[in-house]
Amino acid sequence: MEDHIRFSEEQDALILLDQRYLPVREEAFVCSGVKDIIYALQTMVVRGAPAIGVTAAYGCYLAAREVDPADPHWSEGVMSRLDKLAQARPTAVNLKWAVNRMRAAWQDNEAITNLGELADFWLSLARQIQAEDIAMCKAIGRFGGELLEDGDTVMTHCNAGALATAGYGTALGVIRGGVDMGKRIQVIANETRPFLQGARLTAYELHKDNIPVKVACDNACSLLMARKLVHKVVVGADRIAANGDVANKIGTSGVAILARHYGIPFYVAAPSSTFDPDTPDGNRIPIEDRPPREVTHVGDVQITPSGVEVFNVAFDITPNELITGIVTEQGVVYPPYGETIASMIFHNR
Ligand code: MRU
Repeated sequence: MEDHIRFSEEQDALILLDQRYLPVREEAFVCSGVKDIIYALQTMVVRGAPAIGVTAAYGCYLAAREVDPADPHWSEGVMSRLDKLAQARPTAVNLKWAVNRMRAAWQDNEAITNLGELADFWLSLARQIQAEDIAMCKAIGRFGGELLEDGDTVMTHCNAGALATAGYGTALGVIRGGVDMGKRIQVIANETRPFLQGARLTAYELHKDNIPVKVACDNACSLLMARKLVHKVVVGADRIAANGDVANKIGTSGVAILARHYGIPFYVAAPSSTFDPDTPDGNRIPIEDRPPREVTHVGDVQITPSGVEVFNVAFDITPNELITGIVTEQGVVYPPYGETIASMIFHNR
């Protein structure tokens, strides 16, 4: 599945598969300008850290397309749009990573003298970032697939699959890597309240690929582990601090604590664009608060009494000491994370 983020030359627009409606219907969402991209990111038409980064890269191209080339201050118009794009969601660092990479590439390229040249340059760089993301996920799959044994049941939380990346996935990339090696792997997808990325998206894409998957309520995790039905846990990440603390979808740290209690290996899978050298530890990672309605309603049905307040914190932090290994496109990073992340990830980018 690689066409859920597709640039259309005929429409001069980014066409996204609208993840809000999966698995019930497959509907396209057309982004013709920066406002559409920001709306798509904030309402989770597209979500998942690497997919957010790829979408934002195309958003930079659309920023260059929509500014008036006759405006003598066109570069300020572009810059202010890039700033807005980078702030669309706070936790996944891939968003800032992608916007910063686009901006730096422009600043380093003295041959660009006008908006048309900038737009052409950014469209090809966005395409490159998209292709690189798929290649990184496949490399994660090759390294991570080795960690799985024939017959394993892998629990995952949220959706860190093809839909959350440009294709193939990170945590689901590890599972696909194991399957591609001929191993028989089953998956338990935690449903992941409130947006239900596990129930709706992970189950959708694994079922499509004929990889056996069962959906479990988030609160079934402890019992399933106690019954020895889970051999390994593999999750994605929205941001990995320099010391190896991991921000991922709310509920992930609880799964990690339970995995430690039951002696189950807990792996994180992420490309190097998810590691943040500017964030020393998990306490400094901003956690997104999302609209209460995602908790108070399921679809159009209200499930909490009117007037009652709710928490809708979208991410939590898994401390590095609970993580068995972090699978990246460069190999598997093991503790002590402060040292191995510095030498394997930051040193090589
Ligand atoms: O709020 P979301 O759906 O964007 O959160 C996504 C996650 O937490 C994923 O697990 C993470 O981005 C890894 S995606 C490869």
